[in-house]
Formats: sequence, structure tokens, C-alpha cells
Amino acid sequence: MTRVIKGQTLSFAEYGKAVHESTGAIAIGDDGVILWAGPQALLPQGFAQAEVDDYGDKLVMPGFIDAHIHFPQYRMLAAPGKDLLDWLTRFTFPEESRYADSGYARAAAQVFLSRLFQHGTTSALAFCSVHKICADALFSAADAHGMALVTGKTMMDRNAIPAVEDTPETGARETVELYEKWHGKGRLRYAVTPRFAPTSSDAQLKVSGELLSSLPGALMQTHLSESPREIAFVKELFPWSKDYTDVYDHFGLLSGRSLFAHGIHLSGRERARLSESGSTVVHCPTSNTFLGSGLMSMPRLREKSRPVHLGVATDVGGGTSYSMLATLGEAYKVQMLAGYKPSAHELFAMATRGNAERLKIAHETGALEHGKFADIVVLDPKATPVLASRQELSTSLEDVLFSLMILGDDRAVEATYVRGRKVHERRESHLQCRHPGESLDPALGQHVR
Ligand code: GUN
Ligand code: ZN
Repeated sequence: MTRVIKGQTLSFAEYGKAVHESTGAIAIGDDGVILWAGPQALLPQGFAQAEVDDYGDKLVMPGFIDAHIHFPQYRMLAAPGKDLLDWLTRFTFPEESRYADSGYARAAAQVFLSRLFQHGTTSALAFCSVHKICADALFSAADAHGMALVTGKTMMDRNAIPAVEDTPETGARETVELYEKWHGKGRLRYAVTPRFAPTSSDAQLKVSGELLSSLPGALMQTHLSESPREIAFVKELFPWSKDYTDVYDHFGLLSGRSLFAHGIHLSGRERARLSESGSTVVHCPTSNTFLGSGLMSMPRLREKSRPVHLGVATDVGGGTSYSMLATLGEAYKVQMLAGYKPSAHELFAMATRGNAERLKIAHETGALEHGKFADIVVLDPKATPVLASRQELSTSLEDVLFSLMILGDDRAVEATYVRGRKVHERRESHLQCRHPGESLDPALGQHVR
């Protein structure tokens, strides 16, 4: 049965150009593919018998795409580290060690995905833990929803704790096994995932570069230039390197399929290499302010002579919200501190079509266009009393989007669709979000304090 979704439709074409219909409609086929999009008045007769979900003047948009998030950190938000390295050793590695248990990982994957849907996120580039079964659990859960998800098993062979370490050999073998099992199945993709330079030996980074060049279509995700102490540690571990970016460059990890989270403290030389190689830097503003890492500057990274591709992401659990609305709001504030005032249109385009392009999934999602999958979020601009009274003053679409990103979060998400199927409705959200047994675990209390 075809379905028609009606509302105020908004999507972004190439170069971020807004396509807006104040009374729009999207017609979706059985397979979840968009058959038609345009003004309701022009909806073809052929869809007259379709089931209709009518959202009135609420905003119907492509679902958000989170370009950097950690699945095994799904419940450790708000862990107060002194800085990145302290946060990793005190809270993160112990929490990620739980994902050696496949039952735990499978249950967590269900909660993680329902949390993404609750916040209007329909695709993501996600880190798993070092454990192969953690990646198996997330791939399997995402496949059951028909999601476009990109993930991979983390590789790290030093400077962590034994429970979350692998070796260059086991990391490579498991990466290839997971790639062969999942990459290209349904809408799933694999990302080669060395955590970051401080937790991989030269041998493991070398293997990571070889995997990136030998696994067709795979992405590569890691972290780069996030905190001052991390950068000093990289200098100590790789004394031969020109800088942090040079370490990844040396091992063949810069490419058009490579995404680097953070990129806060990069020199001109590093930005030039990232630009030349077609690499992406992913801005993670709530994480950067929470961990005190620094203020990433979009204009510096976009400098005309050496522009770097940019994405935007939550970085949960270093990030403090699953909401891409809240994330865009924080990106706005960080950029204001860096001397740049982005528009809401620009940031919404980054979180949808822009991130789809960075994740190489723009041919199938990220816009409300014929032939793409119907991955959709419905936003209620008057979801809360504060938003409702703010809208009385709104005089433009830019105003509505701006107030949504500054004041909105999951309360503004009316519904979420993945591949044309409704996976979240606001009324039910509070029933879907608890991991069975999570509040009963005494060990967590010890970690998060
Ligand atoms: N650098 C290495 N690992 C991590 C992580 O899990 N989160 C963040 N924010 N930075 C990292
Ligand atoms: Zn991260």
C-alpha cells in the first residue's frame, strides 16, 4: 500500500538550496522509496487511494544524520571527566568493556536505535566497541529496521585496558569478517575504525590504512586534534611526525572516504592536507564544550585556499545530547564564539543532505526526492510552551528553524519514519527508552560519579 505524508515539507538540494512547500506531500511506495514529492495541489490522482498521515503545518523533513556517535556509550552521557583522556580512562573504557557480552550488546542495540528515532535521527556513522559481537549486534538491529547505518568494530591495541584491546592481527581479521558479512547487506555499510592515534600502535595504523584501500566502498572513522593533552601525547608517541594529521597521513588514512571527529586545533598545514585528500572533519560541539576540548572554527576549516569538507554530529556519550536540534544549537553558539554566525538553513542542510554526502549515502537518503528512501522526521515548531510563544514572533522559515535548533530537542520530534515505516511517535517515546536492567547495575554507579 502506498502512503502519503502531508505537511510543510522542507528538504535541501545540492549546495544547500532549500526546497520548501508550505502545503507539501510525499508519496511513498511499498518498498519505502519516495515515488513523488511536491505541493499537495499537484499530487497525482494515482495516489488518491493511499493511506494518508497528515501533519498539517508541522515540518516534514529528511531525517537527521548523525555523522559521529558511539553506540557503546549510549548510556554514559554526563560523565564528568577532567578532560578527554581522563574521561576515557575513568568512564569510557570500563563502560565499553561490557560489550564483550553479546546479550548485553544486543539489548543495548535496540535501546540505542530507539533513542536515535526518538530524536529524529534516521542514519548514523557509529563507533562500536572493540568486540566483534558489538558490531554484529548493531548491524543486525539496524538491518531489521531497514536503516542506512555505517559502523565498524573499534581497533585499539595500546594505552587502554586489556578488556577493550585487540591486536593488529585480530583487529584486521575481525574487520574483514564483519565487512564481508554486513557491508552492502540491505542499507548497511562498513567503516574501518581505529579509535585514534594514541590507542593504536604503528602496526595497527598501518593495517588500518591497508584495510581502507583494500575494502571497496568502506569508510574510515577516527578522532583528530580534539584536546591539547591528546595532541601532546601523539607528539610523544610518534616523534617523527610533523603533526597529528601527519600520523594518519603516513599510514594512508587520509581520503575522500575518511571522517575525522573534532579537528579543533589544526594548523594550516594540517588543514591543507585534509583539504587535498578530500577528508571530512566532523564538528561535535556539545562534546567539545562538555569535555573542555576547545572551540572548532568552521570558517578556519573552510578557508578558501584549502577548504575542508565538514560534517556535524552529537558524539554521544562525550556529547551531551542525542538531539541533532540541540547539537545544531550548540554549533551555532560555538561558531559565534569563533566569530562566525551560521544560518539555521545552513546548519539544517549540514545535518541532512550534507552529512549524507559525507557518509556516501546521499544517493539513497538525506533529501525528500523521488527515488530516495523515505527517511523522515516530522518536527513540531510549537512543541513546548516556550517554542509555541516564540513562534508567535516568527516571521520566516529561517526564524522557525532557528528557534527549533536553539530551543528544541526530542520534544519537538512528532514522528520519525525509516524507509517509509513509522518507527517513533511522540506519545510513546517514554516507553521505548530503557535498557532492561540498566538502573539495577551497581557497577555503573561506581563509574559515573
Ligand atoms: N577520542 C578517542 N576516543 C574518543 C571517544 O570515545 N570520544 C571522544 N569524544 N573522543 C575520543
Ligand atoms: Zn567520538
